[in-house]
Amino acid sequence: MASSKVYLFDEIAKHNKSKDCWLIISGKTGNLSLAWKTGVMVYDVTSFMDDHPGGDEVLLSSTGKDATNDFEDVGHSDDARELMEKYVIGEADATTVPTKRLYVAPGLGGTNLKDEKPGFLIKILQIIVPLLILGVALAVRTYTKKE
Ligand code: HEM
Repeated sequence: MASSKVYLFDEIAKHNKSKDCWLIISGKTGNLSLAWKTGVMVYDVTSFMDDHPGGDEVLLSSTGKDATNDFEDVGHSDDARELMEKYVIGEADATTVPTKRLYVAPGLGGTNLKDEKPGFLIKILQIIVPLLILGVALAVRTYTKKE
């Protein structure tokens, strides 16, 4: 099985039903007998849904994302890791698989805007606040003088 098919994330994510279920799990979890030991692997677990000891729901909820953490968090046995080799259908193109949502790479997304805006706002406030205080002080002074 030297030829390994590479799938794009969008294609893998479409297989998210109980009758058609694909998972993305990082290569460290298995494939001991295969040439492509490392990498982000794709598993077609459709035929395993009914037999999975953890149930089919958990498998379904692990579709459409990198399920490595889900798989590892359960602490699957070596038997489970060996068993999963049966379901490998290829590799995922790792560049197309979304990274964890908690991490936003510097320079991507809205972080730059957020970084720049407060600095700009503070500069404006540094001018406006003293002017406001001066204005209020002057207003109070003129009103209190008249009375
Ligand atoms: C190809 C992928 C998978 C295979 C072959 C597989 C196989 C197995 C096996 C054999 C067990 C029995 C316990 C053990 O031997 O460790 C198990 C349990 C379990 N699996 Fe999976 N699993 C896979 C993916 C997943 C994923 C993605 C999840 C998501 C959370 C998951 C959740 C669970 C849960 C919750 C249990 C029950 C643990 C318990 O009650 O002791 N599995 N799995």
